[in-house]
Amino acid sequence: MTDQAQSAGKDRVYIFDTTLRDGEQSPGATMTHDEKLEIAELLEDMGVDIIEAGFPIASEGDFAAVAEIARRSRETVICGLARAQKADIDRCWEAVKHAPRPRIHTFIGTSPLHRAIPDLSMDEMADRIHETVTHARNLCDNVQWSPMDATRTEWDYLCRVVEIAIKAGATTLNIPDTVGYTAPNESAELIRKLIATVPGADEVIFATHCHNDLGLATANALAAVEGGARQIECTINGLGERAGNTALEEVVMALRTRGDIMPFYTGVETKKIMHISRRVASVAGFPVQFNKAIVGKNAFAHESGIHQDGMLKNKETFEIMLPEDVGLAGTSLPLGKHSGRAALRAKLKELGVDVGDNQLKDIFVRFKDLADRKKEVYDDDILALVTAHMADDQENHLEIVSLKVICGTAGQAEAVLEMEVGGQESSADEFGDGPVDATFKAVRKLYPNKARLQLYQVSAVTEGTDAQATVSVRLEEDGKIATGQSADTDTVVASARAYVNALNRLHVRRSKTGSDIKEISYKDVT
Ligand code: KIV
Ligand code: ZN
Repeated sequence: MTDQAQSAGKDRVYIFDTTLRDGEQSPGATMTHDEKLEIAELLEDMGVDIIEAGFPIASEGDFAAVAEIARRSRETVICGLARAQKADIDRCWEAVKHAPRPRIHTFIGTSPLHRAIPDLSMDEMADRIHETVTHARNLCDNVQWSPMDATRTEWDYLCRVVEIAIKAGATTLNIPDTVGYTAPNESAELIRKLIATVPGADEVIFATHCHNDLGLATANALAAVEGGARQIECTINGLGERAGNTALEEVVMALRTRGDIMPFYTGVETKKIMHISRRVASVAGFPVQFNKAIVGKNAFAHESGIHQDGMLKNKETFEIMLPEDVGLAGTSLPLGKHSGRAALRAKLKELGVDVGDNQLKDIFVRFKDLADRKKEVYDDDILALVTAHMADDQENHLEIVSLKVICGTAGQAEAVLEMEVGGQESSADEFGDGPVDATFKAVRKLYPNKARLQLYQVSAVTEGTDAQATVSVRLEEDGKIATGQSADTDTVVASARAYVNALNRLHVRRSKTGSDIKEISYKDVT
């Protein structure tokens, strides 16, 4: 079916992606400047309508990323977040104004619990909303306003403040379910009530912003659309604080697949979903759960005998979407050790990975090394290899030079590690309970640190004993969190690289603290 046929007679729903703001706010999901630029470019190419690129007053780094994303943007609206304070709004405008289509998003918590934080009465808060939305509107003609924790705000008060924001010039009214508390029928009813009772509501767009604490974010967002919302706020892979936000891929594919009962369409090119999902998982260091809807490794896998039999006879028996529709290549041939650089380039293109000549040269060296150790190199192997290459391909404080591990059934394992620390090479020989423990001890010997290991996760990229292992490591030090990832056919090597990648990221964060990172919470409005 063509996109035109698919959208005929349906209402357009705008997709507002907040992976780079609400997603990045999730502990441990910090992205580098270049990673944010890359994700923003992928989002624009995929046809997202609005990108919330960050929270400019939060840090110099956030400001620089939002400003650069704004400068590079073409048609997508670039939005920045600002609390209900003039200084926040001015800073936000300074960053987004470079975009051909800028938006300021300002918010304040309106529920009783949130009103208590700045200790404002209902009337004082109403005045603050009028003042700050007016200020934003004097700077920018595209202003979004959000009453944070809207779903726990008294409905009458919510109607009152939404009306004030519309009168002050807000063009998009976002109704957040900040703590993932609502349910589908209530989500629809709330939007319906606002549209029916607030004067001026038919002149603006209502948006829905759901969190997934009860696993209802997608259902609540779709229900809000039924109720009249025409903008869905979401993130790739559902990344976000706590249980995350509405997943972009879920709402987009639900609207596409069930257009018969939900007469809406989006501008998202769904074939680009898989690639961006993998890139976000990789740069944020948040692996996608295997059974995650749409983008999980098993989302299109049919393993039980009865399913396979049905699939062979008629794909529709157990498949409601085509894997190709979300960008999963059909059964393509694996590469092997005789494949040349041209074949690798073609494969990367097919997988949606765009690399320059120098990067291709480096990735090819890694590919040859892998193909020597592994008979067949599958698409997932190539993607894991690219991810590992990108993580290693930076100016790093720590670089592994060599690693040798000896282990057996009796006693402890021994790791002999050579590593460069700030350009100086040194070596360590450590024992531990198993090869990974010994290796991490050796890293700590050469680079003493007090980072706490919060997560260590290993998964096989493909099947077979020669499969690559992808390893994710999450570290915490003084409240700062950093993640690292790597992949290798040797689990211990992948673990060492992932650990060192996370330490490199912590090193960068540590060196920036005090100079340009102002750790502020988007929740304090004083
Ligand atoms: O969840 C929330 O309420 C938010 C607001 C800042 C829109 O993310
Ligand atoms: Zn949120």
